[in-house]
Amino acid sequence: MCGIIGYIGARPAGALLFKGLKRLEYRGYDSAGVATLDGGKLEIRKDAGKISELDEKLHFESMAGSMGIAHTRWATHGGVTRENAHPHADCSGAIAIVHNGIIENFQELKAELAAKGHSFKSETDSEVIAHLIEDNYKGDLEKAAFEAAKRLRGSFAVLAVSAKEPGKIVCFKRESPLLVGLGNGEMFAASDATPIVEYTRRVVFLEDGEAAALTKDSAKFYSLDDWKPLEKKASTVEWSAEDAGKNGYSHFMLKEIFEQPQALKAVIAQDEKNLAAFAEELKKAKRVIAVACGTARHSAVIGKHMLDRVAGKDIEVLIASEFEYFADRVEPGTIVLAVSQSGETADVLDGLRRSKAKGARIMSIVNVKGSSIDRLSERSLYLNCGPEIAVASTKAFMAQCAVFYLLAHAMAGKLEKAEGDLRLLSGLVQQELDAANGKMKEIGEELAKKQNAYYLGRGVNYAIALEGALKLKEISYVHAEGMPAGELKHGTLALIEKGTPVFLLNPEDYTYYESLSNGIETRARGAKLFGLSNKENKAYDEWIRLPETIDALLYPFLSIVPLQLIAYYAAVARGNDPDKPRNLAKSVTVK
Ligand code: F6R
Repeated sequence: MCGIIGYIGARPAGALLFKGLKRLEYRGYDSAGVATLDGGKLEIRKDAGKISELDEKLHFESMAGSMGIAHTRWATHGGVTRENAHPHADCSGAIAIVHNGIIENFQELKAELAAKGHSFKSETDSEVIAHLIEDNYKGDLEKAAFEAAKRLRGSFAVLAVSAKEPGKIVCFKRESPLLVGLGNGEMFAASDATPIVEYTRRVVFLEDGEAAALTKDSAKFYSLDDWKPLEKKASTVEWSAEDAGKNGYSHFMLKEIFEQPQALKAVIAQDEKNLAAFAEELKKAKRVIAVACGTARHSAVIGKHMLDRVAGKDIEVLIASEFEYFADRVEPGTIVLAVSQSGETADVLDGLRRSKAKGARIMSIVNVKGSSIDRLSERSLYLNCGPEIAVASTKAFMAQCAVFYLLAHAMAGKLEKAEGDLRLLSGLVQQELDAANGKMKEIGEELAKKQNAYYLGRGVNYAIALEGALKLKEISYVHAEGMPAGELKHGTLALIEKGTPVFLLNPEDYTYYESLSNGIETRARGAKLFGLSNKENKAYDEWIRLPETIDALLYPFLSIVPLQLIAYYAAVARGNDPDKPRNLAKSVTVK
């Protein structure tokens, strides 16, 4: 994971890079560092810890120079220490690099370089890149980076600078994301557009095996295979810096939960021709396999139910990291449908590349336009919900479910109904947010004192049980399990004891009575039963009221909202930062 940013221009680089790191912090936040160049002098400040705390100690803003590179880390190789934080320098202290990705052959490279006399300061895989560049450096940073990149196996997005060539940043990538921002008399490079949109919205996405050399007035692009120049087209980022701010909310997560009514409306603004073609292709496909991770997979499970019930189309849903064991055997006629907020999730990308090589068509539902998954896809539908910054996904989940709702209805020739339903739903979610926030805060605070919680649902509601449990555990660290209500008796019921919180997804739909019986079974063993339903029932210890709606398939949208709020308030009550849960990062760009 990790986030990287580089700048070259006329502004004070330390301040700009520090601000950029704060924007990128959601990609990793266990350590950070900045390198600036002032004339021929390279300075590096870095350490383990959160970026704001580090700044109090290291004062990034006071660093001299108007060019530099910076990194925020999510540790993969080597512990969370100052030595392992980026930027990493070569032996001479003239070359510095930042890296996102994993260098798979770093041990052999390290041994080879150490035998030549290079000395290493960190345990990271990344440091070898600085030494490899040094080893190949004969007065030309671009050439040295090109030679070094040839030796690297694995995934990388790298920015490199040298004190011997002030005025240049060299960038190269394979698999990990990297874009170049084009300004007037200034250039940027970054993992994504969030740290640069306030300066420029014109960006060029680097593809795998591409490189760039930036000066303040030029951006030149090259193929990493032979360093031949490439013509690249710039795109325009469609959202603004304000979209990436907190707008008065205490956390991004809360802001994003409250943005969901808007997100539902924004989903409707699909390119209709594209949606129709997407729907047609899915209908005709011999086999459709949806691949995704975490929350995105939960939305795909909901999508499976929607496609089945509305359009009579059966699709498979696989966890992306498990799909890789089947990806090499897919056949032409198969559509692999990626679902991803970031569009950069490594496990998803891996399966897509492999199944594409076998003749599968790749289609996707993504939020970030121009992301790696989007670019690999023959056709994409977009969430249109703006940047999602909190690590725990909320509005992107809502938007993914809404895209599936539109898609299922488009496949059944009922798109207009779906559009109307989503407009109505947007109002209902707003009502819920207005009415339920206070009560969900109380329940969240109650849950913060518990060790375990269980979430049960059947049919389409099972996916909400999974998602509710994931939200709670990832930000509050209360252990939570989501499961099909019918599966309870086959083991998990043994864990229910007096006071164990059980959340029953129990809207009045085709699953109502059977789920209710399962809830009552837990209550008989002492559980405290929270019933999420549009209909009150005396079996519930607490009724979490869902608004009435016109289509049973809309209940999942309504039942996730209180569960998101409960998780948020449980995390806050435990003193956790809900935006940055421990050990996690927003964009999982390593396998
Ligand atoms: C949980 C969460 C993750 C992501 C998962 C996939 O709240 O956000 O489980 O859903 O890492 O990420 P994307 O959607 O970017 O592929």
